Amino acid sequence: MKRGFFITFEGPEGAGKSTQVGLLLEHFRQKGLPVTATREPGGTELAEKIRAVVKGHDGAERMHPETELLLMEAARSQHVREFILPRLEQGVSVICDRFSDSTTAYQGGARGLCRAEIAFLNDFAAAKLVPDVTFLLDITPESGFARTRTRSETAGEFDRFEAERIEFHRKVRRCFLELAASEPDRVRVIDADRDPQSVHADIVRIADEFLV
Ligand SMILES: Nc1ncnc2c1ncn2[C@@H]1O[C@H](COP(=O)(O)OP(=O)(O)O)[C@@H](O)[C@H]1O
Ligand SMILES: [Mg+2]
Repeated sequence: MKRGFFITFEGPEGAGKSTQVGLLLEHFRQKGLPVTATREPGGTELAEKIRAVVKGHDGAERMHPETELLLMEAARSQHVREFILPRLEQGVSVICDRFSDSTTAYQGGARGLCRAEIAFLNDFAAAKLVPDVTFLLDITPESGFARTRTRSETAGEFDRFEAERIEFHRKVRRCFLELAASEPDRVRVIDADRDPQSVHADIVRIADEFLV
């Protein structure tokens, strides 16, 4: 049986990842392709518990960047083995909202942890799984936050990453763009500061050429 495609979406909060994951999922379904969508950190019961710990931590005790990194990798390790790999092997394509590149950008580019150590841990957690294609939804932190501010306020959820200063998010963006420059075949940069249908059209053009 033909293995499924593994497609990831990356980019900052408010870039439109969840929106575009949903649109691409629907596109594949209409083509009759077996497909599912998931997210990181999370995607299994255990990994979603880790997500709540890492995102919602109240700061009463400092969460060290190393701890944050290992929690992200622990969630990924579970998600890859429990959810993603079995589906790919069954011929189901998997679309994932964030994956290893987010760890490189947030814990590496922004928190400043060693990139070689992160690369090793990413490989270890992902069982060396690499996306067939990664869509980097690129947008300035200012535009991204203009979209999410109301979302977090209305949801009343505290998110340690959204709460970081603008300079942190500039570093995240810079690191994502560096990753795209170093792996241009895999990581495709999409201008996300446009209406959702224009962004989706670019993604579909690449997805159809690469994957179907
Ligand atoms: N291309 C777009 N233009 C304007 N608003 C958008 C666009 N894509 C998504 N949104 C809106 O912006 C907010 C964040 O989008 P979302 O898909 O949740 O982003 P992410 O998952 O990257 O944080 C949502 O309210 C969504 O409806
Ligand atoms: Mg989202």
